[in-house]
Amino acid sequence: MTIGDLQKEFEKIYHKPAAHIFFCPGRVNLIGEHIDYNGGQVMPCAISLGTTLLIAKNEDRQFRFHALDFPESTAIAFSQDGYSKQGPEWFNYPLGVINELQKKGVELTGMDFLFSGNLPIGSGLSSSASIEVLTAFALNELFEAGLSRVELAVLGKSVENDFMGLNSGIMDQFAVAMGKEAHAVLLNTDTLEYEYLPFEIGDYVLAIINSNKPRKLVESKYNERFNECRTALKAFQQKLRVQHLAEISVEDFEQNKTLLNDPVLEKRALHVIAENERVKKAKEALTSGDIETFGALMYASHDSLQDLYEVSGIELDTIVDFCRTYKDCIGARMTGAGFGGCAIALIKQECFDDFAEKITAAYEEKIGYKPGVFSSVIAEGVRTLV
Ligand code: GLA
Repeated sequence: MTIGDLQKEFEKIYHKPAAHIFFCPGRVNLIGEHIDYNGGQVMPCAISLGTTLLIAKNEDRQFRFHALDFPESTAIAFSQDGYSKQGPEWFNYPLGVINELQKKGVELTGMDFLFSGNLPIGSGLSSSASIEVLTAFALNELFEAGLSRVELAVLGKSVENDFMGLNSGIMDQFAVAMGKEAHAVLLNTDTLEYEYLPFEIGDYVLAIINSNKPRKLVESKYNERFNECRTALKAFQQKLRVQHLAEISVEDFEQNKTLLNDPVLEKRALHVIAENERVKKAKEALTSGDIETFGALMYASHDSLQDLYEVSGIELDTIVDFCRTYKDCIGARMTGAGFGGCAIALIKQECFDDFAEKITAAYEEKIGYKPGVFSSVIAEGVRTLV
């Protein structure tokens, strides 16, 4: 839909024009998976797909939420006492942002919202972080709250953790708030220090392959992994002076793993520790233009997520297994939380169409339905359109 079409939709619903339009992208994570809640380093980037918000203040002291992609809409009366989550619907994300901003003392008035997105929902490309950071950015602009982009990302994470009940890390919100065109963001999730790494991959393109698997149990499994990591950390802390699992070296892990006294916890912790090491190597590879090594690290990351962290699944494994057999693919892995969602791959540009055709056929034959395959551009973070 064009901006003009969206304007017309807003007018149809609210009988007035939208005052402002904002856009926030989704993200993929290049490497560093499931370590942002363990103090590790991650390497996500914002993509060109995302969510658009049209917004206008109203005089009715009501927050009205509509989305073009979801049937549910609602109106919630302004309340000094804050808000709580209402059922499973999408509008809890912007409502959670309003709740957090009011807690910070930002004085809001009634507003009419219309959201429209082109991120495949539930595909692990962070449609939820996109809507959180988008709402926070828009209200920060409209009400001159003076929050920095990093503060908006932190606020989005609080919504996810405290309002929605998912123990996620900061990676997704940070990536969509701070993303930079043609760059990966290397983020230390302990200190929030970050740097931009030019994503120069020569003749290759970054492909996104959506498993189209209906995602179930993501939240409960995610929180289960979070708790396993907490338990492993506590066990190591009996001997090691560390605050996060990702601080532990592979050598210290090997010497102290008996403290865990549980083979499952051992696998989880080893993934976290080794994945953090891979991110450091991936930075070196990217900055020295060694795309082959970068690709090999992607495959190694996937193996670890499959075997040690156990968050992949037959759909994502089928995609990555196909990539390993495709001559002009030099690296692939699942991206995001897992349990369905998307994989990413580095494919020779001139072979992209052939790759898309062949992986679609191979995946459909094994899984029974088609994946989505597209090539992606690394884009800027949240921004004002109008
Ligand atoms: C989800 C969470 C992130 C991160 C990834 C896994 O996307 O929102 O914080 O933990 O899973 O790396």
